[in-house]
Amino acid sequence: MKKKRVGVLISGRGSNLQALIEACKATDYPAKIVLVVSNVPGAQGLLRAEASLIPALVIDHRDFASREAFDDALDAALNEAGVELLCNAGFMRLHSEGFVASWRDRHLNIHPSLLPAFKGLHAHARVLAEGVKITGTTVHFVRPEMDSGPIVAQAAVPVLPGDTADSLAARVLIAEHRLYPHALGLVASGAVRVEGEFVVGMTQINDQPPYFSPPLDEPL
Ligand code: GRF
Repeated sequence: MKKKRVGVLISGRGSNLQALIEACKATDYPAKIVLVVSNVPGAQGLLRAEASLIPALVIDHRDFASREAFDDALDAALNEAGVELLCNAGFMRLHSEGFVASWRDRHLNIHPSLLPAFKGLHAHARVLAEGVKITGTTVHFVRPEMDSGPIVAQAAVPVLPGDTADSLAARVLIAEHRLYPHALGLVASGAVRVEGEFVVGMTQINDQPPYFSPPLDEPL
């Protein structure tokens, strides 16, 4: 099987990166990570890449005069590594419009809410402040507006009595670690594609519970 060459952008802990690394170990998984880039020196995710012998780079945004200049350096590094698909995994910087355009429909992001609800930072605290009872996580194609773009897959997660932002974040993170490998697998295998501004293909299977799309082998 010809695996898609994936680049992963991080800024911190890298637990979603780790989930993707684990998924890529399966011989029948349609993607392999060829480069990890962090905009933050010393990010924990860099150690995860190193431990798995995946090439990793720091491109520190503070070394660049503009967002565009940083994105140009990032784009050059990704192209040099032959990256075909890009995954933001806790990458805490907005991209320039030019960068987003050049990676259009080849660029995924994970966000810890059921988009389009609760875009942006501190999603869990805002979920709690609104008294929402079900939240979750979304993997979507990247568009210029933050946390927007065609949705590949979502997982729902209950908000439980007594939750704090931290306890909710931990529960959602478990779902993220399952959702991202699923979503990347769908995109990398060609099972789904963007048509108009929607993701079409094998994302829905009717006999599976609607709270996880695509379906999983086991319940959450
Ligand atoms: C995750 O909650 C992700 O959804 C959000 O940032 C967090 C990154 O966590 N965009 P990690 O670095 O993958 O552990």
